[in-house]
Amino acid sequence: MKDVYSLSDLTNEDLLNPSGSAPARLAVIGHPVAHSKSPQLHQPALDAIGIEGRYIRLDIEPGELLEAFKRMREVGFVGANVTVPYKFEALEACSHLDPAAKALGSVNTILFGEAEEIYGFNTDGPGFIRAIREEFSVDIQDLKIMIVGAGGGAGQALATQCAREACEQLILVNRSIDKIEALSTRLLPYFESEKLSGPGERIEALAIDSPNLPELAGHCDLIVQTTSLGLKATDPSPIPNHCLQPHHLVYDTIYEPSRTQFLKTAEANGARIANGLSLLLHQGALSFEYWFPGTKPLRHMRSFQQ
Ligand code: ATR
Repeated sequence: MKDVYSLSDLTNEDLLNPSGSAPARLAVIGHPVAHSKSPQLHQPALDAIGIEGRYIRLDIEPGELLEAFKRMREVGFVGANVTVPYKFEALEACSHLDPAAKALGSVNTILFGEAEEIYGFNTDGPGFIRAIREEFSVDIQDLKIMIVGAGGGAGQALATQCAREACEQLILVNRSIDKIEALSTRLLPYFESEKLSGPGERIEALAIDSPNLPELAGHCDLIVQTTSLGLKATDPSPIPNHCLQPHHLVYDTIYEPSRTQFLKTAEANGARIANGLSLLLHQGALSFEYWFPGTKPLRHMRSFQQ
């Protein structure tokens, strides 16, 4: 059994489904994809629920995505997760999209339907809502939220979800301001109602080195870290330490390492903290429920080992 499969493996039964193994029925598609933890999340759920099938990693070269979908359908796949860099391209290939995928402009879950149909979903945004509720017992819609790294793929998705929930206030923060100015304009229609009490716009875009950052952070309830800073143990926190205060709920989308410098600082400053493991679990469970409606995979995924 291989750790990572490729397009050509999809037509080689001996490689894809060696004798004695359950057939490959689900995959995470990306490029590269060897690092993906998705099999460790989904396989225990498949096994515990009693669904015969393997969840594999599929590394697809640029330009091969449509062919991969076609072959996967032919060899009996139920669906797939889609990760970087194919979340946008996958959306184009879908014949049906759920509202979250439409709003976020990307797809992280596909389900093969009848004939040529491909259903596309995005469970990152809805998974984030559940993660924040589980970690902090609060609802996004009630919060003033700062997204640090809102110009990146993950940051844009979570910012869009917060806007869809019409949260109290949304502060978009990024190193490159141009990436969030367009996002801010796109999300403005979600904030038309008069909800905010007190000063400030419902949605604002701010450079990460702006002198206004500490003051605006101080007015927020939830600060979410979505930059890639923190993946390496030596990475510093992306924002000045004094931006993180005792009244804050602080969430880092990174879960490995389990405590980035950003989270360590937040904790030392007295804030409540959580890492991205809950987001990983909830988006995964939602994907699984699209493939196998009526199942309850979350508790089986909680055994996830990093
Ligand atoms: P993507 O998610 O689109 O693949 P990425 O290159 O992984 O992008 O970066 C994700 C986010 O991390 C971006 O918001 C990026 O900021 P820029 O848009 O300004 O590039 C942010 N990021 C990466 N390294 C950073 C650093 N050293 N300091 C601050 N932000 C950083």
